[in-house]
Amino acid sequence: RVHLVVHNLVPPFLDGRIVFTKQAQHKDWELAGTKLGNIMGVKQEEEKDKALGADGKVDYKSEQRFAEHMSGKMEASSEFAKLKTIKEQRQFLPIFAVRQELLNVIRDNSVVVVVGETGSGKTTQLTQYLHEDGYTNYGTVACTQPRRVAAMSVAKRVSDELGCSLGEKVGYAIRFEDVTSDATLVKYMTDGILLRESLREPDLDNYSAVIMDEAHERSLNTDVLFGLLREVVARRSDLRLIVTSATMDSGKFASFFGNVPVFHIPGRTFPVDILFSKTVVEDYVEGAVKQTLQIHLSPAPGDILVFMPGQEDIEVTCDQLVERLAELENAPALAVLPIYSQLPSDLQAKIFQKAPDGVRKCIVATNIAETSLTVDGIMFVVDSGYCKLKVYNPRIGMDALQIYPISQANANQRAGRAGRTGPGQCYRLYTQSSYKNELLVATVPEIQRTNLANVVLLLKSLNVRDLLSFHFMDAPPEDNMLNSMYQLWILGALDNTGALTTTGRLMVEFPLDPALSKMLIVACDMGCSAEVLAIVSMLSVPTIFYRPKGREEESDQAREKFSVPESDHLTYLNVYQQWKTNGYSTLWSNQHFIHAKAMRKVREVRAQLKDIMTQQHMALDSCGNDWDIVRKCVCSAYFHQAAKLKGIGEYVNVRTGMPCHLHPTSALFGMGFTPDYIVYHELIMTSKEYMQCVTAVEGEWLAELGPMFYSVKHAGRSRQENRKRAKRELSAMEEEMALAEEQLKARREQR
Ligand code: CDP
Ligand code: MG
Repeated sequence: RVHLVVHNLVPPFLDGRIVFTKQAQHKDWELAGTKLGNIMGVKQEEEKDKALGADGKVDYKSEQRFAEHMSGKMEASSEFAKLKTIKEQRQFLPIFAVRQELLNVIRDNSVVVVVGETGSGKTTQLTQYLHEDGYTNYGTVACTQPRRVAAMSVAKRVSDELGCSLGEKVGYAIRFEDVTSDATLVKYMTDGILLRESLREPDLDNYSAVIMDEAHERSLNTDVLFGLLREVVARRSDLRLIVTSATMDSGKFASFFGNVPVFHIPGRTFPVDILFSKTVVEDYVEGAVKQTLQIHLSPAPGDILVFMPGQEDIEVTCDQLVERLAELENAPALAVLPIYSQLPSDLQAKIFQKAPDGVRKCIVATNIAETSLTVDGIMFVVDSGYCKLKVYNPRIGMDALQIYPISQANANQRAGRAGRTGPGQCYRLYTQSSYKNELLVATVPEIQRTNLANVVLLLKSLNVRDLLSFHFMDAPPEDNMLNSMYQLWILGALDNTGALTTTGRLMVEFPLDPALSKMLIVACDMGCSAEVLAIVSMLSVPTIFYRPKGREEESDQAREKFSVPESDHLTYLNVYQQWKTNGYSTLWSNQHFIHAKAMRKVREVRAQLKDIMTQQHMALDSCGNDWDIVRKCVCSAYFHQAAKLKGIGEYVNVRTGMPCHLHPTSALFGMGFTPDYIVYHELIMTSKEYMQCVTAVEGEWLAELGPMFYSVKHAGRSRQENRKRAKRELSAMEEEMALAEEQLKARREQR
């Protein structure tokens, strides 16, 4: 067994500004101030109490009653249901009443902030109004969305409203999927796509107007775009920038762009009864299922919207609802419809379709349905109180996707969804005191809680010199910024002076996380780019393996046949190659419990990445059957995420000592093969820290590829001797750094 000495070498441009922690723990990911319920303990055991008895009810206390509003508004809701044609529906939307006024304000100002309740028509109408007002005569009208699902579904709706097919006059673009053409006048896109376009076209010359939608979400890319577009507007007087927000907290946006006008769309909302749980709900899935059934079995009409943190909980909730309803005699029909970002788009579209007469709809959603998507006819909201957030821990340089309590702002948006077409009710599966005392007032903006490596890379290639003084609406914590730069430095994207390297420039070309682009770039030097291209493509799509309910064992067996015991990455490669050998067959996929659709997507992604490689003169070479070289290549991109064997099946992070576990779906899990060192693609936190997508590596590779962290410890030498030697081995790097430091100094003096 090779033993490693661990050290932390820091480049001069970051010297003294990086803090390392030796021992990292679960609690390092806590968002300050949130402690709703026992997050880790929630939903552990699936309670088998299926009866809808007295104790099956969640007990609520009514907090706000707006009964006085009720009477007159009922008419409006039935009036809404009568609207048949699309034209009538469009004219019924609140934004229609202020159409001309709004267009006038836009005409007179380069930047306008538009505020309106969710469902008032901002996303679907504004683009069309601009089109009708002639803005598409000299450019495209863009509308950015923080979420892919929203971009796709809204584009579909608007193309229907305009009576054209998707991809013609109206199109959308999300990562790896461009459904636009030369004829496209209105383009919905994720904010990430516009950000990348600004690399090629810093002034966004193709566009006559840009709508930055859902600004209140404060997504990372939207926040970066704010800083960049502020400059673009100053350079281009013909460009119109419209920032829309669902919340009244618009003053901040207006002052950021230099006290620009704020246009309020008068709302038309109905009262919503808010009911808090009287006791702490231990299991929100169970609670939501019970509450939903209770609503459904009551005579009150109206559809139900349930908010869950993520896909897994949504699936369990939907299954349970269907299961329990089946057990009840004479229960009325309920159309249970999930919606989350990874759901195939044909299933996503279902939430907007009308259920058959007399059938109630129940949509179980992530916070995508909070403001991005509006479904009409919702009268009841069931709110679990949780959402999933990606949170970065700069001290150990890791991102983790975890379930957190929502903020009060989220809670209020969720409740509002019940009052769109008539008075409604919102059931909160948490107590009023949790709401008041434990929930943050607003969610921490993404830019302040995630890894910024991609942002740093982008801004560096846009020649933003001093990132720490870039004009952000809310600056990210300096720690996050510095540590993201550090991560780029260890991957070789930044040099010792903090400037972009050739590798870094190449990395920007790929719409991938820095580590994945690095893997592709190294693969070209190692002669295994064909293999790594397949792996990277496989990692860029949602789940490949299909595990249907009731056939778990069968599908697990099918999956095991693909396992390459040393590596999940190689297992993916194996699947891809076998699929290819079988003529990319759908039948073959189905027979082997592989998602055929996901595999088709893999092929598309692969083709796009291959195009970029060709443009960048990167060779596509195969290493044949020598897959050790592929593992080494994986190691070159993930050596900073290495773990070493501690006990049987137990690993600890080499650098931080944090315990981490093989995921049960890993090819390495329970195979009796326990390599001393592994690297992992990502860490997910549920009840434990799980490493996802793991590859066995050699200790020597870690030292060779990650010299800033590891040196080989030689047996028979004293600890001190080993440290000294490690230091000597580092000396070449240290010399380079000393040189860089001088360059830095000289550059500073020049300024
Ligand atoms: O952006 P905002 O929340 O202000 O409203 P919107 O998304 O433009 O929604 C306006 C109307 O279009 C709502 O009544 C939605 O139900 C409807 N819509 C739809 O029927 N299907 C979609 N895919 C998107 C919106
Ligand atoms: Mg919208």
